Amino acid sequence: MSSQPGYFAADAEADDELARLQIQATVHDPTTFRHFETIGVTEGWRCLEVGAGAGSVARWLAERVGPTGKVVAADIDPKYLDNLTGPTVEARRSDITRDDVERDSYDLVHSRLLLIHVTDPVDVLQRMTAAVCPGGWLVAEEPDNSVCGPVDRSHPLAEAWARYNQGFGECLAAAGVMDMRFGGILPARVESLGLVEMGTEGIARIFHGGDADSHMVIQAMQHIDGILLANGVLTESEIADARRAFEDPTFLYREALMQSVWGRKLPNG
Ligand SMILES: C[S@@+](CC[C@H](N)C(=O)[O-])C[C@H]1O[C@@H](n2cnc3c(N)ncnc32)[C@H](O)[C@@H]1O
Repeated sequence: MSSQPGYFAADAEADDELARLQIQATVHDPTTFRHFETIGVTEGWRCLEVGAGAGSVARWLAERVGPTGKVVAADIDPKYLDNLTGPTVEARRSDITRDDVERDSYDLVHSRLLLIHVTDPVDVLQRMTAAVCPGGWLVAEEPDNSVCGPVDRSHPLAEAWARYNQGFGECLAAAGVMDMRFGGILPARVESLGLVEMGTEGIARIFHGGDADSHMVIQAMQHIDGILLANGVLTESEIADARRAFEDPTFLYREALMQSVWGRKLPNG
């Protein structure tokens, strides 16, 4: 396996990557915001959004915490965060794996679809937790692809889809590009951080080929298929068959579970 460290879409065309991030946000934001409601995000909170992407979560937080709060939207490449403006919002270029983050400073530290992309997600979780103030919350949300699968295994494209999905997951994890299983172990990793009032929820959605979510996958495939081919995991024709499944509205599949986990730092620290 070749080693390909770094964010897999770092060299993507800016417009394509923005469109992909926006679809991701449309799918996952309502659940994320519901979790924020559950833990009680409110006016005056100081929030850190790590791996902020296109900024939709930071924007929601800024509105919620209002003029007395603060939101830092941090990303290794904050190119889509230019329009996050206002006296209480800061778009910050920051690599969470190495740059300093203020300790004990935030009422909420959140990340989504970030830990699967880093080499040492436990270290990143610890760094994020260190930034939470006493009594504050950590919320982390990551996918677990162990539940993925065709809804109808007798569909003519089911086998091609399943082969791609398995090859994709195993190859990218082995190559250090992304670990789509990390959401499965995330609750245990958060539990070991010593947080209290922990909560968990996992959602696995059903997508159709041809819908917006499948287009997001097809866009991501552009960055990934070269790795699958180079490592001999799949052939061009197997990749083409999988793409047909992602384009076919009669094909339904269960996407990766999105595992959300939250916990609170003890008020006395
Ligand atoms: C898949 S996107 C998710 C974006 C957003 N969190 C969401 O769920 O819509 C991952 C984001 O994490 C950022 N990222 C990747 N590695 C990072 C790192 N080491 N430090 C900070 N951000 C990182 C990427 O630039 C990208 O914006």
